[in-house]
Amino acid sequence: MSAIPSMAVLCSGGGSNLQVLLDKARSGELSGHIAFVAGNNSKAQSLARARAASVPTYHVSTATEGSQEGVGKRLSALIQEHRVDFLVLAGYMRPLPAEVLALLPQRVVNVHPALLPAFGGQGMFGQHVHEAVLRRGAQWSGVTVHLVSEDYDEGPILWQRIVAVHPGDTSEILARRVLAVEHDTLWKVMRAFCQKRVTISGKSVHVQGGWDESCCVPVRSGQLR
Ligand code: GRF
Repeated sequence: MSAIPSMAVLCSGGGSNLQVLLDKARSGELSGHIAFVAGNNSKAQSLARARAASVPTYHVSTATEGSQEGVGKRLSALIQEHRVDFLVLAGYMRPLPAEVLALLPQRVVNVHPALLPAFGGQGMFGQHVHEAVLRRGAQWSGVTVHLVSEDYDEGPILWQRIVAVHPGDTSEILARRVLAVEHDTLWKVMRAFCQKRVTISGKSVHVQGGWDESCCVPVRSGQLR
């Protein structure tokens, strides 16, 4: 890994998580460099945000590359060219080609807007996740930041934080509440990676010094039965 770790970010949509990464990298709170941002939608706000921060952007899609295999080759070439240490999927609504994953084993990070393994898997992205949470009557949702593996949404969990579902929530309202927590979570996970505080063994993750804030309500030992 380079002295200042290098990250690439893949996004398909609004890019609010990307914006936090850009801002924190610029302020120095995130001791990493954002080498490039790529997305499958040339009109996405995320690419505009990256351009505004003078970060190189690339439109990489099956339309530009001809096939999913072409997308894999192009992304792999960019990752090598920019000497990327970590790949962050921040609202990337496309399958990640296996070729890309193989280049960065245990160094591809995704943010999922619910508590995995519930409400994850194929088709569970964007609003679909929040709609499913509400349909099921779950009282808690949250944020999961995890490593990407070949099995969709099943890579080791890095950090989870809990978000309450309120009576009367719509999927849009819940999405906004969850997104606010994503903004405070993803960059802190990347900071820990850049500071070399994360070790992974199988599915278990150890973070030296722990995460900054707990996501759990402490239970005193006297309360245990
Ligand atoms: C986030 O909710 C993320 O969890 C999901 O897509 C959304 C992206 O939001 N995968 P943004 O593009 O970062 O604003």
